This record gives sequence, C-alpha cells and structure tokens, in this order.
Amino acid sequence: MSNEEPVKISIEDGIAWVTLNRPEKRNAINPGIVYGMVAALDALETDDDVKVVVLTGAGESFSAGMDLREYFRATDNDPAERVKLFRANGDWQWRRLRHFAKPTIAMVNGWCFGGAFTPLISCDLAIAAEDATFGLSEINWGIIPAGVVSRAVASVIGERAAMYYIMTGEKFDGRRAAEIGLVNEAVPREALRARTTELARVLIEKNPVVLRQAKIAHRIASEMSWEQAADYLMAKNDQGMLHDPERGRDAGMKQFLDDKSYRPGLGAYRREA
Ligand code: ACO
Repeated sequence: MSNEEPVKISIEDGIAWVTLNRPEKRNAINPGIVYGMVAALDALETDDDVKVVVLTGAGESFSAGMDLREYFRATDNDPAERVKLFRANGDWQWRRLRHFAKPTIAMVNGWCFGGAFTPLISCDLAIAAEDATFGLSEINWGIIPAGVVSRAVASVIGERAAMYYIMTGEKFDGRRAAEIGLVNEAVPREALRARTTELARVLIEKNPVVLRQAKIAHRIASEMSWEQAADYLMAKNDQGMLHDPERGRDAGMKQFLDDKSYRPGLGAYRREA
C-alpha cells in the first residue's frame, strides 16, 4: 500500500474499507490522518454506495496512537494550531464516529495504543486479530490517557480491568481484549478480513433506517436516567417509524401475525428487494 495518502478508502459491495495509511510510522495519528479522516467520514456518510464502514490500519499496525512528534511536540508552542488540530481529532475520533449514520466496525489488525483506543471504541463493533497488541501506554511515557481515552475506556471495560491497564500500561492481546469487552471477538489473523466482511454483510441486510435509530438511541439512552430513557426511546421509536420508507414494523407484524411466515426471534423480516 502506498504511503502517499494518510487515509485510503476502497468501496466494495457496500463496505467502505477505510485504512489509516502510514505503515512506516505504524499509523500513528498525525495531522494528515486527522484531517483525512474528517473528510473521509463526511464523504462516506452521504455516499449511497456505502452501507457499512470498516476502520483498519495498513501493514502490521491498527494505529500506534497519537503521533508524539507531529501531534504533540509540534504543537507544544503553537496554541492556535493545537486548538484546531485537537478539535478536528475529537471530531473524527468520537463526535462523528460515535453517531455516524451508518454502522461502523473496527478491524484491529495489529498494534493499538493510547489515542487509537478512542476511534476503536467509537466504532459500533470491533473484531481483532488474536495476536493484535493493545496497550494504554500513556503511563509509560508520563501522561494520562487524555483526549477522551479514559472516558471511552469506561464505556466498554469494567472498572478493575480499566484501572489495571491504565495504571500498569501493560500490553495485552486480542483474546484478552475480547475477554474484557474491548472488542466483540478475536479471530486468527488469517480469518480477520473474512469475519469482518461476514459481520458487515449481516448489518447490510438490516433495515438501514432502523439500524441507525437503534445505534444512536442506545448511545444516548445509556447516559440518561431510566425515566428520561423511557420517554426518549418511545419518541425515538416513533420517529424511526415515521422516517422508515419500508414500514418495517408493519411488514414484520404482518409476516408474523397474519401470514405466519416467519419468527422475529429467529431472524429478520423479509425486506422487499
Ligand atoms: N508517534 C510517533 N511516531 C511513532 C509512533 C507514535 N505514536 N509510533 C511509532 N512511531 C514511529 C517510530 O518513531 C518509528 O519512526 P522512525 O522509523 O522514523 O524511527 C516508526 O514509527 C516505526 O516504529 P518502531 O518503534 O521502529 O516500530 P516497532 O515495530 O519496533 O514498534 C511500536 C512498534 C511497539 C508500536 C512502537 O513504535 C511504539 O511503542 N510506539 C508508540 C506506541 C505508543 O505508546 N502510543 C501511544 C502514544 S500516546 C497517545 O496516543 C495519547
């Protein structure tokens, strides 16, 4: 893979493969990747050919975290650039990604450190190679997991494991990442792309309007009180039905209750082609 563009996009059968592309720097996140990812997500969100986005890294790394030279040191004495760059980084890593209109999957193919945890966790789902290496390495070189890394970690990992890895900086592999809930599953490296494609295909089969409503509703409701969530989710469900051109709920009810042609517990209703 060429290193000319910091972010590569390839669209195949509804899946946009978005690759952080600085393999010689282990895909450390520099300004090129930051601004490239903001532009990439903007473009993909409104591209009708894209149904699912997969985020991965070129070569042997998912991402070695924030670029210590170009993201941190280069902006230490440039507050204006720092504000602009840090804001843009937050934009792609969590503001856009967490509420992206289409399903997102992180495919962790190798090293994943520090700041790379934020986009990993912001993706809806994550599959890792069993031998990928993860680490909250910040403590090893004198900072805390900032940006929003600690906040992101707290949203998917239990307290004991989070504190352990934040305080020790110890690395762990893909199997352990699955065990603690950082990724959905870990698979042998040679099966990584096939398993990710299989999962993407499952998502592509779903009603896209309802899928978008479901993921965004979950993220927002998880930070509400139960009373607020009950009211919000009812309204969100109504909104989903209003915006669903397929009238999926009606189709599902008819197929189960009237036609007796399928079981909602066992699979999706039949969508019109
Ligand atoms: N920032 C800047 N440059 C980096 C980074 C980084 N985060 N990670 C790797 N690089 C560069 C190296 O400086 C090196 O550049 P050079 O060829 O010009 O010397 C190149 O990428 C290759 O790195 P190596 O260390 O030679 O690769 P190796 O495969 O031996 O090790 C590893 C890979 C383990 C990922 C190692 O590079 C590393 O520890 N990187 C830092 C990981 C880290 O702690 N990230 C968290 C940063 S803090 C944060 O994100 C908030």
